Amino acid sequence: LFLPVSDPALEQRLRTRLGLVEKALSGHVRSRAPFVTEAASHLLEAGGKRFRPLLVLLAAEVGPEPDADDVLTAACVVELTHLASLYHDDVMDEAAVRRGADSANARWDNHVAILTGDFLFARSSELTAELGRDAVRIQSETFAKLVEGQILEGVEPGPDQDAVAHHLDVLAGKTGALIATSALYGARFSGASPEVEQALTAYGDIVGVAFQLSDDILDIASDSVESGKTPGTDLREGIPTLPVLLAKRSTDPADARLLALLEGDLTDDGRHAEALGLLRAHPALDEARRYVVQRAHEAKALLAVLPEGPVRQALEDFADAVAVRTA
Ligand code: FPP
Ligand code: MG
Ligand code: MG
Repeated sequence: LFLPVSDPALEQRLRTRLGLVEKALSGHVRSRAPFVTEAASHLLEAGGKRFRPLLVLLAAEVGPEPDADDVLTAACVVELTHLASLYHDDVMDEAAVRRGADSANARWDNHVAILTGDFLFARSSELTAELGRDAVRIQSETFAKLVEGQILEGVEPGPDQDAVAHHLDVLAGKTGALIATSALYGARFSGASPEVEQALTAYGDIVGVAFQLSDDILDIASDSVESGKTPGTDLREGIPTLPVLLAKRSTDPADARLLALLEGDLTDDGRHAEALGLLRAHPALDEARRYVVQRAHEAKALLAVLPEGPVRQALEDFADAVAVRTA
């Protein structure tokens, strides 16, 4: 679990509420077909940080009705949407490991993984309907942004577009959108004011991008025990990440070998290992880390509209924890 909350009473409350979400989720992934239940519960049971449902619950602590049933429903909606996207993502990234377990495509095959993702998204949509038509609209817009981000990831930046700016735009779509929606749902379904809703959505947008940037830094810096994934997967697949884009800006002749490797085929094990080693020692990695810390500061500044207290503190700690993730 991702639960960087220092107030013991709040932590306990969130734990209890997350337990309810967890129980509900295991029901939502059930199908009349036993094999579909098995495939759909596979990644849910494999673990995960429950980052998005936690953000829904935490943001809901800001409103007058944090205990509203719709808050729990919304927490399930975002995790199911996320889960669905992971099944599809692992097909596209040809990833073999997820949450420390075999990915669905590795465990079964691409067809099973794709259709299970569709099934989970269907379940998420069914639940969203319970939240009313505004939620259905928000959910549809979020889904479109996820897909746009995911598609743009595979598209080169335009001739006048900066590679880093393009990349941040991709992250805002594929990750920021659902995390922003998580914060929005928490505020909305606990009855927070439109001003608070807006601030938390903007906060979620930034935290979401920071979360993905940290993820991408971990893809380079961590080992598989920490991340529960295969290190250097993005690199192997040629998916641009901030450390790589920053390293590519280098004009230092000492970086010639790294830049040559990055231009070439990194599906070759030897070249991949060499590039990963050079990147791990490269200043671009720390530069990327500093950028994430800066974004976390920006996210925290948006919380100024909230009253001071344990909830605001927890949201601040949450942003900080995202910037210095180790898993
Ligand atoms: C993980 O990124 C992927 C995402 C955050 C979003 C993927 C979005 C889609 C597949 C489109 C939406 C689809 C549905 C069904 C909702 P990553 O590959 O960089 O991260 P990883 O290291 O965790 O694999
Ligand atoms: Mg992936
Ligand atoms: Mg991906």
